[in-house]
Amino acid sequence: MPVSTKQKLIAPSILSADFSRLAEEISEVDQAGCDWIHIDVMDGHFVPNLTLGPPVIQWIRKATRLPLDVHLMIEEPIRHLEAFREAGADWITVHVEASKDVSATLKKIRHLGAKPGLSLRPKTSVSIVEPYLGLVDLVLVMTVEPGFGGQEFMPEMLEKVGALRPRFSGLISVDGGINLETAQNAAQKGADVFVAGSAIFKEANRKEVIQKLRRSVS
Ligand code: DX5
Ligand code: ZN
Repeated sequence: MPVSTKQKLIAPSILSADFSRLAEEISEVDQAGCDWIHIDVMDGHFVPNLTLGPPVIQWIRKATRLPLDVHLMIEEPIRHLEAFREAGADWITVHVEASKDVSATLKKIRHLGAKPGLSLRPKTSVSIVEPYLGLVDLVLVMTVEPGFGGQEFMPEMLEKVGALRPRFSGLISVDGGINLETAQNAAQKGADVFVAGSAIFKEANRKEVIQKLRRSVS
């Protein structure tokens, strides 16, 4: 059975939040009972979009006590790890495609006291992350091409979750196009963490959607 017995975690991605009221948006999903806050960092090189960096994360850190799950979509993230850790990142996920020395990058994240995660783009196969599974606590399977919120879930990515599950005892996270239906499908393949941006922030009642998501994955 690929299904994971670990607690399922709901991680709203603030990419789809109203950034002019970011602290309020975060406390709303915090009080609505989510587990982590997912923060997408984009550099305009690894992905075509630009978002935010450590100074904004410092303020997010003050707005919630929940773990901050920082997803770095940036080239050579090793250059910036101290800054993200000092800003308050608890989990730091890097892309396997973005570093010359993936092992050194993951080891540095752990050395800084954060939990290391490794992500793969839709076109990257599971065999590329396999050599690093012993160095990470989380694998983030991108279920859309990274760069933008609001895209459609790629159902072919479910196979990757299923392939990883028996080989990896840490957390498997899915990110991109997650809604009640796709979250349920990913949970059945063994995913543990469900990152959802537009599905949560486009709804007026965040509590209801988070509760529904939790039910659909358990
Ligand atoms: C995309 C980001 C996602 C994004 C998900 O590159 O990694 O975290 O915010 O947004 P939705 O849930 O709207 O697909
Ligand atoms: Zn993300």
